[in-house]
Amino acid sequence: MLDIVVLAAGKGTRMKSDLPKVLHPIAGKPMLGHVLDRARELGGENTQLNVVIGHGSDKVEELFSADDVSFVYQLDQLGTGHAVQQALSHIRSAATVLILYGDVPLISLETLEQLDQCVSDESMGLLTVNLNDPTGYGRIVRSSEAQSEGQVEAIIEQKDATSDQLEINEVNTGVMAVRGSDLQKWLPNLSNDNAQQEYYLTDLIAMAVADGKTVVTAQPKDEIEVLGVNNRHQQAQLERYYQQQTAEQLMVEGVTLLDPNRFDCRGELTVGHDVEIDVNCIFVGRVELGDNVKVGANCIIENSTIGAGTIIKANSLIDDSSVGEKCDIGPFARLRPGTNLANKAKIGNFVETKKANIGVGSKVNHLTYIGDAEIGEGVNIGAGTITCNYDGVNKSKTIIGDGAFIGSNSSLVAPVTIGENATVGAGTTLSADLPDGNLGVARAKQRNIKGWKRPEKKID
Ligand code: UD1
Ligand code: CA
Repeated sequence: MLDIVVLAAGKGTRMKSDLPKVLHPIAGKPMLGHVLDRARELGGENTQLNVVIGHGSDKVEELFSADDVSFVYQLDQLGTGHAVQQALSHIRSAATVLILYGDVPLISLETLEQLDQCVSDESMGLLTVNLNDPTGYGRIVRSSEAQSEGQVEAIIEQKDATSDQLEINEVNTGVMAVRGSDLQKWLPNLSNDNAQQEYYLTDLIAMAVADGKTVVTAQPKDEIEVLGVNNRHQQAQLERYYQQQTAEQLMVEGVTLLDPNRFDCRGELTVGHDVEIDVNCIFVGRVELGDNVKVGANCIIENSTIGAGTIIKANSLIDDSSVGEKCDIGPFARLRPGTNLANKAKIGNFVETKKANIGVGSKVNHLTYIGDAEIGEGVNIGAGTITCNYDGVNKSKTIIGDGAFIGSNSSLVAPVTIGENATVGAGTTLSADLPDGNLGVARAKQRNIKGWKRPEKKID
């Protein structure tokens, strides 16, 4: 049974932002979201999440309300111990209580599992790390007495430490795990008799030792897991680290990244085999790339599925769309929400699509807008074709049958239906339905004027 307490009341002054610090994103997700996701992975069913909020609490609540989350208010920031005290009434005695921080977003599941293992009836768990420069952190004081040598005795905050203690490189990450019953016993006894006149959560350590418990320590696999974000520089560092991790994972799965340092995933990217991604691509939300998909440079793909063997050329944007197999997209294509391409469809440069079903093998190769359209199989749409889907009030549909051919620079005034194998002459403004197999032309007849003299330049 797990009770999680996430401290998220801090203002984050150094972010210089109207947004509460824990709502600032890493990889497109608020930092607090990362922490809660990790907590849920660790805890499973019977886990209760308590989030201590203060600054900007309404915004935090709005975003993270859920059945398994209780919000606890800390109106004045009287210290980390005081923050946890606010959640005490929610703590179950039999639970293991894990304390996490809303601004330490990248803690791993493995590390939390290790820490969870440190808790028993006789012990509590503390996550520590050795830092070359421990300045600012609470130092871990270990015993030098023979019978308890090396055992953790206390955490001493930087501002309360002696010069000898300041030499200690092992520091408190802040993350700890304690039996609920122990927390209920110790927490009310915290005092603020220290240099910062705060209620220090870290004083629990000395209380545990005084109570005859052992403080068992665990270390994170990577130091970055326990780094907090206090300013935008640290946020950017964690962002890059996160992206590098994601890139490495994808390469392990067999993806070619032409430069893993120029890759961004802000969501969940799933990939088939032999996928190749060129530089500066951004994947947002849930994106699936099938086997052998190639994505050119500078593409942004959001909440979309791309079928096997499809090639997306540079500078294309795909949002909320589904693309079949062996399609050919871009460069400079824009697939807006509701675009569905069947297999082997082609969308060329400077083509915009929206709410459009485009059939097998159909081609829309250049400079075209296709919106609110049903396009059959083997259709060819000439350069500069526009579906005129909007009359200023309502949107209407364009339906094009299999095998139709739309000449260049045509305006298809919706609602309009073009039959199978019909042909629209170039430059036509089509405002009435065109039956199967017909040619539709609507343009002024050409006049040729013999012996036409071009105007000459005036000289004055
Ligand atoms: C704390 C630890 C220190 C540790 C360091 C790791 C204490 C007394 N010290 O120090 O040993 O090395 O973290 O980063 O715990 N918070 C609240 N309410 C409060 C105070 C803090 O919600 O009243 C939240 C903050 O928003 C922040 C976190 O708790 O997310 C840590 O608080 P902070 O003031 O940064 O603690 P440190 O002094 O850095
Ligand atoms: Ca801090």
